[in-house]
Amino acid sequence: MILQFLPGGIMLKHLLSVDDLTGEEVMDLLRSARNMERDWDEPFYENRKVLATFFAEPSTRTRLSFERAMHHLGGRVLTAADASVSSSLAKGESLKDTFRTLGQYCDAIVMRHKDVTWTDHARRYSRVPVINAGNGGGEHPTQALLDLHTIHQELHRVTELAVMICGDLTDGRTAHSLVKLLQKFGNKIYLAPARRVCANGYKYDMLMRCHDDGCIYIDHQDQKEVLKEMDVVYMTRLQKERWEVTTDEIEYLRLDRKLVSTMKQESIILHPLPRQEEIAEEVDDDPRAAYHERQVRNGVFIRAALLEMMLYQRTK
Ligand code: NCD
Repeated sequence: MILQFLPGGIMLKHLLSVDDLTGEEVMDLLRSARNMERDWDEPFYENRKVLATFFAEPSTRTRLSFERAMHHLGGRVLTAADASVSSSLAKGESLKDTFRTLGQYCDAIVMRHKDVTWTDHARRYSRVPVINAGNGGGEHPTQALLDLHTIHQELHRVTELAVMICGDLTDGRTAHSLVKLLQKFGNKIYLAPARRVCANGYKYDMLMRCHDDGCIYIDHQDQKEVLKEMDVVYMTRLQKERWEVTTDEIEYLRLDRKLVSTMKQESIILHPLPRQEEIAEEVDDDPRAAYHERQVRNGVFIRAALLEMMLYQRTK
């Protein structure tokens, strides 16, 4: 959504949800990410733009790849890495006041915070573009973009794919954004949720709270069978830090070498990382396992493409 024009004709546009992007913009970003990778060794233009990365939840890949991308573009970075304890949030400052402050120091903000609703404050109070790097168990749109970019790179298409999304679909924000993004391009999405088994034997599947219209739900006992037909298998970890009750047993699909050997040769396995027990380390050497080097690396290119689009491209 274009909110207003900044001096110099740069548009102020937030990326708080995958809904903020049209299919055309997504394809532009994927193209630009490919060009970023192709021309990575060429010096980029020097510029004086400043990006603030404000992370009030842990991160390795997202924050560092945004910062690396900004360095590549020749810009500067202000970092608040442990903002939940090191910023004035720890003194009770509101998100509204935080956005008002950050906007005085930088040209764009990348934000991660456990409150799902922080994006509403960003839309209302930030005078500079804000990129959502995670709002609790809500969304993580740039992860979905890099996931789609990786799918395109590996399978040469972003449509007519059978994609299985596994694990914690209730609180997994990467899954939420990826479902929405894949739906923009007419793909078949199979949901393979983890299942919690309560002390009294009651079982319930960790289904998505939202965005799952049109997806095909796969019961726990059928997940291994359906896996064999997939083009993309997207694994996610259990988001235990977001659960109130931790005593349940959990049943969920775990990939090991034997199970992966039943998958199609021309399929791929993705994971936003960090990985826990849902993928055995022995799977890492399988050529279909794209999560470590290929998927992670794409985070830098797609984020450089996005920052370039948001900070430097002038409106026509
Ligand atoms: C994910 C996140 O933070 O949502 N990690 C990431 O950004 N690559 C996934 C997760 O924490 O499980």
